[in-house]
Amino acid sequence: MKRIAVLTSGGDAPGMNAAVRAVVRKAITEGMEVFGINYGYAGMVAGDIFPLDIASVGDKIARGGTFLYSARYPEFATREGQLAGIDQLKKHGIEGVVVIGGDGSYHGAMRLTEHGFPAVGIPGTIDNDIPGTDYTIGFDTAVNTALDAIDRLRDTATSHVRTFVVEVMGRGAGDIALWAGVAGGADDIIIPEHDFDIKEIMTRIEAGRKRGKKHTIIVLAEGVMGGQEFADKLKEAGNDTDTRVSILGHVQRGGMPTARDRVLASKFGAYAVELLKEGRGGLAVGIEKEELVAKDIIDTLTNHKHKADLSLYQLNADLSI
Ligand code: F6P
Repeated sequence: MKRIAVLTSGGDAPGMNAAVRAVVRKAITEGMEVFGINYGYAGMVAGDIFPLDIASVGDKIARGGTFLYSARYPEFATREGQLAGIDQLKKHGIEGVVVIGGDGSYHGAMRLTEHGFPAVGIPGTIDNDIPGTDYTIGFDTAVNTALDAIDRLRDTATSHVRTFVVEVMGRGAGDIALWAGVAGGADDIIIPEHDFDIKEIMTRIEAGRKRGKKHTIIVLAEGVMGGQEFADKLKEAGNDTDTRVSILGHVQRGGMPTARDRVLASKFGAYAVELLKEGRGGLAVGIEKEELVAKDIIDTLTNHKHKADLSLYQLNADLSI
């Protein structure tokens, strides 16, 4: 393969720029030409496609967001949308495409593959909810951002002897809540993958207060319910501690990527180019037990599901006594 393209799609994630940089630099190192596609699949269909060179990705590795912009583009779920996108790629002489994004973006890459156009998916989402990889680009940064917020909230919670319900992102996955919760010493972590018992949570809050504990931090994954709804449930169950809700929201999607996310992005980007250079498409790259892997994208999406590490849930329960 001599000419490839790269796009970012869906919710942005810190480290996407580092991944684009890796794709561009590795492709040039391998003697290939590389094009950028703005606004994900929307830009593909609109033909918003332009050449990238070494300098285009200079000064990008440390930046959050994505300089190729991103979009959610449901039209790409249709056959017409997919074929229009492939037409545009072919018009530019592009033979393969690297798609950096989350679940929806992977489905787009799977459709390109089904139409016989080589696509390689790189997992880029703060949610860490993609099958076929232990970690996605942006997850580590988002966890650290959430953790920083939890540490700050604990300060003010202690001063005022308050309970905080901290709502974190993650869509249907509890990974951000689990990691930020364990690292932040949360009293409870509430995730979609595990039932919760509001009475048990109440008992724990009351026992803590009796022991003289000045703060309670409950980390709640957005996939369970909203922070206020959860605080209301606590109140109904008899919570009489002064309670506040903090919704961390999109702050978790921005900021400079951590070293771990930059290294992961660099590895994924370079690996995706190696695969396309060998003419291999229809693959999802990932990392499992610290080894790079490339899996059939159709099989990955159809037959596999992401699993949160529930040992962290138990660990937190054991430690937050
Ligand atoms: O998938 C990333 C994510 O940030 C989720 O955690 C969140 O539920 C969603 O995107 C928010 O989407 P939007 O940016 O479209 O509001």
